Parts: sequence; C-alpha cells; structure tokens
Amino acid sequence: MGAEEHLAARGELGDPAALTGRLFRDMVGALELLTVYLGERLGLYQALDAEGPATSAELAARTGTTERYIREWLEHHAASGLLEVDDPAAGPLARRYSMPPGHVPVLADTGAIRDQAFNGVEIVRAARWMPELAAAIRSGGAPPPLAWAPEGRPEFNRALFLNLLARQWLPAIADVDLRLRSEPPARIADLACGTGWSSIAMAQAYPLTSVDGFDLDADAIQVARRNAEETGLAGRVTFTVADASGPGVSGQYDLVTIIEGLHDISRPVDALRVARGMLREPGCVIVADELVEDEFTAPASIEEQYHYAWSVVGCLPAVMSDPDSAATGAVMRPATLRRYALEAGFQSLEILPVKAGMLRFYRLAP
Ligand SMILES: C[S@@+](CC[C@H](N)C(=O)[O-])C[C@H]1O[C@@H](n2cnc3c(N)ncnc32)[C@H](O)[C@@H]1O
Repeated sequence: MGAEEHLAARGELGDPAALTGRLFRDMVGALELLTVYLGERLGLYQALDAEGPATSAELAARTGTTERYIREWLEHHAASGLLEVDDPAAGPLARRYSMPPGHVPVLADTGAIRDQAFNGVEIVRAARWMPELAAAIRSGGAPPPLAWAPEGRPEFNRALFLNLLARQWLPAIADVDLRLRSEPPARIADLACGTGWSSIAMAQAYPLTSVDGFDLDADAIQVARRNAEETGLAGRVTFTVADASGPGVSGQYDLVTIIEGLHDISRPVDALRVARGMLREPGCVIVADELVEDEFTAPASIEEQYHYAWSVVGCLPAVMSDPDSAATGAVMRPATLRRYALEAGFQSLEILPVKAGMLRFYRLAP
C-alpha cells in the first residue's frame, strides 16, 4: 500500500469511527507482532520451514514446546493469513499447518533481505522500557540503558548489509568503489558499528581492505568480534569499544562510514569532527541515515510515521542522558546533517543517488 492509499484507508481526520477502527487495527497488528515474537524465539518458523507441514503435536515435538500453546498459536497464525492450513474443517488436532513458500524469506530465513521476524523482538524490547521512559519524560534526563538480555540484540541490519551494503550501495558510488578495490589497500573506519555487520560486509566485498569498527556499546562490540570470528574475517576486521565523538577513535583512513548511527550519537558534530580528522587524501566520510522527508509534513508517509515512532520510543530517549546532547532523534533531515557537517568543518555535503530502501546516503568531503 502506498503512502496516500495508507492515509486514505485511515479515514477522514476528525472522524471518531475511523479513528476507532484504526486503533483496533493497530491493536491487532501489535498483538500479531507479539505472536511473531513467540514464533521467532521458539524456532517455530524455522521448524515449519525445515521439516515441512505439521500438526500442533508435531510442531510442539519438533521444538520442545507444549502442544496446547502451539495449537492456539498455529490457529492464530492461520486465521491471520501468516500460515496455511490444509483442511480448516478437520479436528483441531488433525489440522496440518504449513508456511507458504513466499513467507519463508520474511519469517524463517534470517539471511534473506526480506527477513522481518526480528520485529517481534524489537516491539517486546521497546515496550520493556516504556515505564522508565514515561518517568524520564516527566522528570527530564533519560531512561537507563536497556539491557540486551533476555531477548538479545535484534540484528535488523544483518541481511541487508551482507547482501546490499557493499554489493550494491557502495558500488553505486563509483570513486569510493574504485578506491576500495585498488592498491594500496584501503583502510576503512566504521563508526557506531553496532554488532559489526556493516564492517564485515565491507571487508567481505572488498578483499583488499581492512576495517576498524568502533561502538560505545561493549556488549555490541563483543558480539561484533564473535561475528567476525565466525565469518573468518577477524584478521582484517577489528572492533573497539569507543565513543565516536571522543579521543578514543583515531587513525588514518581512506573511508570513514557511519551507517544508521549518526542520529544515535548524542554529539554528532563532535563525531563528524573526529571522522574528518581521520581522513587521508582523497578520503571522504559516507553517512547513511534514515530516508526522511526534507521538511516536517503532516500527515506524512507511513515510512515517516515509522521513523517518528522509533524516534519517540527509542532513538531520542537513548541520547537524552548526555547534558550536551544535540537530541537529534531518528528524523534527521538533510538540512540538519548539512548544518552538523559544516559545523564539523566539512567543505560540502552531497546527497548520493544510492537506492537503499529506508536509508539515504550522504558524502561529506573534507
Ligand atoms: C541503530 S544502531 C546501528 C548500528 C550499526 N551501524 C547497524 O546499522 O547495524 C546505532 C549504534 O550507535 C552506537 N552509538 C551511539 N552513540 C555512540 C557513540 N557516541 N560512539 C559510538 N557509537 C555510538 C550505539 O551503541 C548503536 O550500536
């Protein structure tokens, strides 16, 4: 559904019946994501994909779970069109459920670019700190950082980066692509690298390069190191716990990247100044961040609503504990980034014609 159709489906602004219907559908969607959380956490999707159609008892046996719970979950998923059932008229224990082949890359294959099952984990995590967030909104400051346990960190960018970042998006920037393929071997610094998939993707696609990833989050860096080991790239990729806006990040690099991370850094101008200082001729900084409208728009596209919602519940609160925070939020408009870049001493900021889904690519020239 396009943005305009989506807005039309929501009905006239001010119509109470339309708003009631919309909030009911939102509730159905929110509850559906909680059931997706269970499917993902309990390995139900993978078990259906790998071993084929199953009754509730068979799926429970495959996954070490309890039949009565699984029966209800399967009935919900079939009733909601997420799974198929062979014969709805059969008895509850006789029905066999299967995953339509087209749903496998979305629900069961974590390596696919359409992978979305992590959204269940995202919603559960976001909801966990709502009470602390409400308190912080009253009192100022920020909710305390949310521990990754028990859900673990949803790897929302893993498949996208491994498949597209260095195989489509960076190759679309011809001079950067050429430099990364050429001798002498290029050095890349990847700031706010999270669990390291952007760094690993670049090292995989550009075998001459070495990549140093930096992130403030020690848990993320630990996972990033493990990911590098498991992908056999630990020799060419390093990961360090460091504040990208502080003195802990240094070195000389041909390319500095900040991929979906700049708006999460409380002092983005300092981080860009650090990044600029790390460049050697003719290097540049590439920032990828949320593809948002150029100006505030209301009502806005569904993508803009999505970015705003994450900003309210996650990205803005995460940077509010720093008294010197720029308090950017997820809706970082091109004009805001241009101002940050100029304040950090860059000569120019260019919006790159890279088609990268929900991300926009920028080049900052020193
Ligand atoms: C949305 S995540 C993106 C991670 C990764 N680039 C990706 O796309 O998967 C933003 C990251 O910014 C990191 N971050 C926030 N402030 C930082 C800072 N001052 N220095 C370094 N990393 C920071 C967070 O720890 C988090 O891992």
